[in-house]
Amino acid sequence: MADTYDLVIKGGTLVNHSGIGKADIGVRGGKIAGIGNIDSADAGETIDVTGLHVLPGVVDSQVHFREPGAEHKETLAAGSRAAVLGGVTAVFEMPNTDPLTTNAGALADKVARGRAGMFCDFAFYVGATRENIAELPELERLEGSAGIKVFIGSSTGNLLVDDEESLSQVIAAINRRAAFHSEDEARLIERKAVRREGDPTSHTEWRDPEAAMISTKQLLRLAHEHGKRVHVLHISTGEEMRLLAAHKDVASVELTPQHLTLLADEAYGVLGNKAQMNPPLRDAAHQEALWWGLDQGIVDVLGSDHAPHTLEEKAQTYPASPSGMPGVQTLVPIMLDHVNKGRLTLERFVDLTSHGPQRIFGMACKGRIACGYDADFTIVDMKAERTIDDDWIASVCGWTPFAGRTVSAWPKGTVIRGRRVMWEDEILGKAGGEPVRFLEALSA
Ligand code: DOR
Repeated sequence: MADTYDLVIKGGTLVNHSGIGKADIGVRGGKIAGIGNIDSADAGETIDVTGLHVLPGVVDSQVHFREPGAEHKETLAAGSRAAVLGGVTAVFEMPNTDPLTTNAGALADKVARGRAGMFCDFAFYVGATRENIAELPELERLEGSAGIKVFIGSSTGNLLVDDEESLSQVIAAINRRAAFHSEDEARLIERKAVRREGDPTSHTEWRDPEAAMISTKQLLRLAHEHGKRVHVLHISTGEEMRLLAAHKDVASVELTPQHLTLLADEAYGVLGNKAQMNPPLRDAAHQEALWWGLDQGIVDVLGSDHAPHTLEEKAQTYPASPSGMPGVQTLVPIMLDHVNKGRLTLERFVDLTSHGPQRIFGMACKGRIACGYDADFTIVDMKAERTIDDDWIASVCGWTPFAGRTVSAWPKGTVIRGRRVMWEDEILGKAGGEPVRFLEALSA
């Protein structure tokens, strides 16, 4: 007797650990139940994806969705709508909200809000402070926790662990891989006078490569000292990339699409303060070194560092203007355009956005197209020429640094646990997000 499925995704080109090839996927109970040649007569629903590529669901492991506390910039509902419109099936959200996500109550509140109103699956980072170090081992294992996030240098919000003693205690306390914003606070404070009023190009001079390097060296030293795993977010300099290559036992590495795509001088010229972010955009030599790190396999994941601020906020005179730019909705089209231009393969894109997050964060049953895994798919048209514009952006902030850019590939559909949540730029059905589960906290 033939197997029966709730859903068959038929006629597509699958990209998974086996390579790239034509195969249908059968889904039962929200899980992948068969891969191969599957007859749609055995399915409740069939999605014809002839001519399209089916990728494992894209995970964006760094977003700031601002809820609670700054809903005028972003909300969990709007940010997750942006995610699924952009082909993203799960996000890891950052703790610099108000209140900060630094205790069990604040995390549980976010998880409840996520269940009630998010369109994609989710996990929330818990912020480390000097006060909650003793609780970190518990906090990193709670339901919906993506692990611990540490700001070694200050950015938006007031989460900061900038003294070596506290940082060392945090790293000693963690058991899961923890994520770090790595810029040296003392150097940032010392060099504040480098900033020129009204001139965002001085942002890149102020937060210089040395600030990132001092902090990343310290972080790696402490990771070795305590035998702990550290995830270094949004690497922006060639020096760090070369250093990180020598520490792959303890360190995983994230790059953002914007550091791979935008160059500081050009971007400040066109975008002004919209191009201001931490760590800053840099020059072509650094960007080439980031691509080198991606080619060499030093880089583990892409994260968008989706960090929305309103146009009014961004219009303030630098340095009063806040740092950060939205990106969860544009990660897939921007990076697939790089695929079509030959800068990375489609297999490497999948490695960075699904297999990589699965491998380094230990997501349970996510990040692979394999039987028994969640039926999360990012279905893409590798031949769709489209121009990104602000009107397409679902974020509360309503803008993207990539407005006006024509790309050669587009997310056509987003399927999460067997539910089609986006098709051809339309969101289907109600919010149905669930917490991502992790191998190191299966009892959560
Ligand atoms: O530019 C940034 N903005 N970098 C960060 O690390 C934080 C983010 C934000 O939350 O606005």
